[in-house]
Amino acid sequence: MYSVLRKLLFSTDAETAHHTTLSMLKTAPNMGKWLRPKAQQPAPNLATQLYHMDLKHPIGLAAGLDKDGIALTGLEACGFSMLEVGTVTLRPQPGNPKPRLFRIVEEEALVNRMGFNNAGAHALKKRLQESHLTIPVGANIGKNKITPNAQAVDDYVACTEILAGVADYLVINVSSPNTPGLRDLQNEQEACRIVEQVIAERNRQTSHRSYQPPVFVKLSPDLPDESLVPLASKLLEAGCEGWIATNTTLERYQIKHIHARESGGLSGKPLKTRSNQVIAALYKVTEGKVPIIGCGGIYSADDVYEKIKLGASVVQIYSAFIYRGPALLDVLTQELAERLDREGVQRIADLVGQAESYK
Ligand SMILES: Cc1cc2nc3c(=O)[nH]c(=O)nc-3n(C[C@H](O)[C@H](O)[C@H](O)COP(=O)(O)O)c2cc1C
Repeated sequence: MYSVLRKLLFSTDAETAHHTTLSMLKTAPNMGKWLRPKAQQPAPNLATQLYHMDLKHPIGLAAGLDKDGIALTGLEACGFSMLEVGTVTLRPQPGNPKPRLFRIVEEEALVNRMGFNNAGAHALKKRLQESHLTIPVGANIGKNKITPNAQAVDDYVACTEILAGVADYLVINVSSPNTPGLRDLQNEQEACRIVEQVIAERNRQTSHRSYQPPVFVKLSPDLPDESLVPLASKLLEAGCEGWIATNTTLERYQIKHIHARESGGLSGKPLKTRSNQVIAALYKVTEGKVPIIGCGGIYSADDVYEKIKLGASVVQIYSAFIYRGPALLDVLTQELAERLDREGVQRIADLVGQAESYK
């Protein structure tokens, strides 16, 4: 069924297809269910936890697809176990000029340079307050393009003030390649300052509550291991409560397609290996002390399995959802549950970090 819809969507440019999909999910929130012929309750061996969040399986939606949280009910019906909204910025901003989203169909990849087009943190807060979801939602926050890096921390703190009370977790995004200078905030000093101040603000906003949304940092796959490992150690000392590994990459892996020449971040299948390497490197640093959310190039149950075995507690998907549609979630969960059964793994959490090494 999705193959027919995909044909229609893929006959228009990628961003028009994106907005059409979100509008459909917003106006017909049950669409996801109709597109899932094999939908069933996930097997109990897939149930897991991320801090206070109970998840029926370990596969969530990555940031960027529904930045402003306009189609949350529709996305929940697609079968994700959690959703991440954003990246939002303190003030609304239009993002980069179009075209800014491109498909590389042969590779099941995307290139985007959206540039945090979003309606702002206040608008997202309102949407989250009005939503009636049964699954957790994380809010991914960034800085406005016009905010100089020297003041970036203020943007992150302000977004935290607005969103800490309505999100199940928060993500500091310092890894998008499409906001000039943003990835420079991944230097140890700046990143630690942002983490410390965001956590302090989160505590101020939520000290009266029984739980506080954990604060994760989303990292770039383009950080070399020599910088990634010390950065992760420092961020842990600064109080970082988890990672998302990874964002999109500037690498092109010798892909010849004309869209590979577009500037922006590459996502989808070609990103899988580097994302896995980053997860493995982070797991060595954290030894399971804080969770890793694995993201990048997941298309099969084996891809999920591999990321979890390397150290991810849960995973997220973006590009595969565009290429395969909502039925993908049921294929992934059913095949993953079967593999756990076959290998005698009782709970998905038992698999985390069990890989010997990764090359
Ligand atoms: C069109 C598009 C927009 C994205 N926007 C964001 C964003 O706003 N914030 C963010 O942290 N990641 C963003 N991402 C990155 C994804 O969340 C994810 O990290 C990346 O696509 C790798 O996962 P995938 O290979 O499953 O697509 C975006 C990705 C795409 C394709």
